Amino acid sequence: MVESAIIPAAGLGTRLLPATRAVPKVMLPLVDTPVIQIVVEEAVAAGITDIVIVTGPGQEAIKEHFRPDPDLERRLEARGDIEIRDRLRRLTELADLADIRFVTQPEPRGLGEAVLRARSAVGSGPFAVLLGDTVVTGPGPAIGQLAAVQERIGHSVVAVEEAAEEVLERYGVVGGTPAEDGLIAVSEIVEKPPPGRAPSRWAIAGRYVLTPTVFDTLADLEPGRDGEIGLTDALAALIGVEGITACPLTGRRYDTGSKIDYVRATLDLALARAGYRDRLHRHLRGILERWTGPDVPPCS
Ligand code: UTP
Repeated sequence: MVESAIIPAAGLGTRLLPATRAVPKVMLPLVDTPVIQIVVEEAVAAGITDIVIVTGPGQEAIKEHFRPDPDLERRLEARGDIEIRDRLRRLTELADLADIRFVTQPEPRGLGEAVLRARSAVGSGPFAVLLGDTVVTGPGPAIGQLAAVQERIGHSVVAVEEAAEEVLERYGVVGGTPAEDGLIAVSEIVEKPPPGRAPSRWAIAGRYVLTPTVFDTLADLEPGRDGEIGLTDALAALIGVEGITACPLTGRRYDTGSKIDYVRATLDLALARAGYRDRLHRHLRGILERWTGPDVPPCS
């Protein structure tokens, strides 16, 4: 049973500057809910009861967001704003369902270092890692899909998704052989492969269930040329120590730290809300019918 999760959220979010100048990237909203809350909801929906969020200095807003606010709930109730109160109350419910704690990563020295910082906060069993800026939509919690596989096979499991050839150089890419139920027995992992050198089109997709062995591997790793300790490098080193299985995601993944995915996620989540679906659909149809080219500076 996977009970603990680490959610690294201490990155600088430079791709979304200036929005992330004062607001942590994971606090940016999709419609009305910060990305980090959606990620925590996924973990809780998978039955995870111990959550450790790794934050950077000055990211107090993340902690503040998860502090229940019964006074505000009461004020909204007195005003008759019951729907909004219920949305706010969800934070109180999350705090009841899971112990949400925080550890600080003083400097953004890489995803691997962020995970290592949370070592003493997770127990001795397998634990989940959910990237704090990555949202996965789908029929059930993606991390639950991975946890079920991990419980069955006993070693570490990484989520992958099939990516277009031209974007593989931005990801960790796994190579391996097909196993039962559409899984992949991983034999190599290449971080950011140069064009034409990727072992497959299976890109690592922001969700992991790992055994604690990875902590020792991380602790032994030297920082890369960028000064960072990468989680993918640790997983590549782990292949020789214990097996790794890749599990293709059934849901759709959004890296909300990229501008295009942030916009896509906002649209898709809004379209999934009954109250907005029809109005937004009409609006988008209207835009596409009138579309003749950009009349505002392009968002690069
Ligand atoms: P990213 O590399 O996508 O985040 O890390 P970033 O560094 O904030 O992005 P840019 O390139 O500057 O825009 C994936 C996840 O890992 C966390 C990030 O917060 C994000 O949720 N992370 C990354 C850390 O917690 N610590 C780090 O040192 C690096």
